[in-house]
Amino acid sequence: MSLYNAWISGVGFYAPSKILTNADLEKMVDTNNEWIVSRTGIRERHIADPSQKTSDLAFEAGLKALKMSGVSAEEIDLIIVATITPDMIFPATAALVQDKLRAVNAGTLDIEAACSGFIYGLSIASQFIQTGKYKNILVIGAECMSRIVDWTDRNTCVLFGDGAGAVVVSRASDNNLESRLIDFYLRGAGCYKDLLYIPAGGSAIPASEDTVKNKLHFLKMEGQETFKLAVNNMATSITEVLKANSISPDKIDWLIPHQANIRIMKMVAKMTDIDEDKVIINIDRYGNTSAATIPIALAEYYEKNIIKRGQMVMLVAFGGGMTWGSYLIKF
Ligand code: ACO
Repeated sequence: MSLYNAWISGVGFYAPSKILTNADLEKMVDTNNEWIVSRTGIRERHIADPSQKTSDLAFEAGLKALKMSGVSAEEIDLIIVATITPDMIFPATAALVQDKLRAVNAGTLDIEAACSGFIYGLSIASQFIQTGKYKNILVIGAECMSRIVDWTDRNTCVLFGDGAGAVVVSRASDNNLESRLIDFYLRGAGCYKDLLYIPAGGSAIPASEDTVKNKLHFLKMEGQETFKLAVNNMATSITEVLKANSISPDKIDWLIPHQANIRIMKMVAKMTDIDEDKVIINIDRYGNTSAATIPIALAEYYEKNIIKRGQMVMLVAFGGGMTWGSYLIKF
């Protein structure tokens, strides 16, 4: 039972201007547009300029979300950044964003849950708001995936892109009955850690000449195993939240799934009886931006006036860890 309602008072996103198309990739690795589009749904992705870091992308998205919400930087109580491509191992990217925003009254926290990071961040934010501890929390999903993919590995390099999306989670006033964060579901299973990971650079295998030579600082993924786990666990995440809140699938106006593969998204919608027309898909233009896919899609489709205030939106994600989860919101 929560004391206060939490709602999303602002959204914003940022994608770097440089676009890398499938035709560009054909010149880099042994791949082709037909394979990438039919197997993944991706046509192009944005790539950060070498001068840009994840915190820069996060800052741009955060600024936009704050502008929409009308909340000033000084009024932010906590900044949560979900990322697996932090500017550096530490300090946290959230601290770097806090400095750029001059959010002088905010605590800072990074979430490392790969593609599910935004759902984890949103759930943490909602708890701080619903207990009455805080009034405004900035939650950002931001990634420079281009910095951790092996650009000679066609199995992975065609999949990812860079970008950031942000929301401001605020305490709702008593007369705001239209919008609120309803409920979430989170799970993780570390037994699948080797299906999607970066082997070196941490305490297990510190950086060395050998780790660089053997490309152990790049993302590794077992695509097919990950695919199966993603479909089943994203579907479960949706059905569990619907069941817990006695809501039937036809009441969902929009499903925003993590954008990893168009085939995964369509299968999840089918398994959960959500109409395919209600699935928000922008993977064709951004690729997989990991923790950023969901807030980018939410902000982009609100900006396009497709997702509207008061609508029931289901967010669902799956990623490295493995981690997965969902969040049902009345936007
Ligand atoms: N271009 C051409 N051919 C390719 C390419 C490419 N870019 N990549 C792989 N292939 C080939 C393979 O070599 C293989 O050839 P072979 O049969 O001769 O060996 C063939 O295509 C099929 O490869 P698969 O890996 O079986 O292809 P699949 O249909 O499974 O698609 C993909 C691969 C897109 C990676 C898919 O498995 C997938 O989307 N997996 C899940 C991704 C996901 O959900 N990740 C979680 C979130 S990401 C995160 O947390 C950071």
